[in-house]
Amino acid sequence: MTYPSFSPIPALRGPVPLAHLFLHTFVHDGHTAVDATCGNGHDTLLLARLVGDNGSVFGFDIQQQAMVETGRRLAEAKLSHRAKLLLAGHERLAEHVTGPVQVVLFNLGYLPGGDRTIITLPETTVTALEQSLHLLAPGGTILVTIYPGHGGGPAEQSTVENWAAGLEPRAFHSWRMGQINVNQDAPYLLLIQKAL
Ligand SMILES: C[S@@+](CC[C@H](N)C(=O)[O-])C[C@H]1O[C@@H](n2cnc3c(N)ncnc32)[C@H](O)[C@@H]1O
Repeated sequence: MTYPSFSPIPALRGPVPLAHLFLHTFVHDGHTAVDATCGNGHDTLLLARLVGDNGSVFGFDIQQQAMVETGRRLAEAKLSHRAKLLLAGHERLAEHVTGPVQVVLFNLGYLPGGDRTIITLPETTVTALEQSLHLLAPGGTILVTIYPGHGGGPAEQSTVENWAAGLEPRAFHSWRMGQINVNQDAPYLLLIQKAL
C-alpha cells in the first residue's frame, strides 16, 4: 500500500485513496470520527487533520505495534491531542465512544508489515459495524475497505456484504465501489450512509 504525498489530484488506485476522497468530503472541523482499525496510522492521521482542533478521533486496534506506530505518526504531525488511541477490539466501540459520530472507518485484513495471521474477523467486524450504525449522526458514514484476496478474506467479504445489503434502504444508503480493470479478488470499498 503506498500513500502519495499531498497533491491536489488524488490518484485513485485502489480503495484507500477513494476512501480518503470521501473522508475529505464528509469530515470537517469539530467532527468526531472513528478509525476502527488503526494499523500503521495513515488513516488515523488523515482523520486527525480533518477534524481540526475542535474535533476528535477515536482509534482502535488490537495490536500494540499498531498503537505505537499510530501514536508515533500523530506525534510527528503534532496532532496527538486530537486522537484517543485504544488498545481494544472495535467490537467494544460502544463502550468507548459516544455519538454523534461523522465517520467510522474500517480497513480490514492484516497489518501491512506485521503479523499476517492477525486479521479482522467476520463476527467481530459485524458487531462493530452494528454498533457504528447507532453512533452515526444523520448523514454520517461508515467506510469499509474489504480485502477478499487473503485466507480469511472471502468469509469476511460475504458476511460484511450481506450485512450491508440487508440494511433498511430508507434508513441507510449502502454502496459497493471497486475498480473493474483489476483482479476479481482485489480490495474494494463499501460505503454506508445514515439517511439525512
Ligand atoms: C489493514 S490494517 C489497517 C491499516 C490502517 N488503517 C492504516 O492506515 O495503516 C488492519 C488492522 O486491523 C487490526 N485489527 C484486527 N482485528 C481487530 C479488531 N477486532 N479491532 C480493531 N482492530 C483490529 C489489525 O491489528 C490491523 O492493524
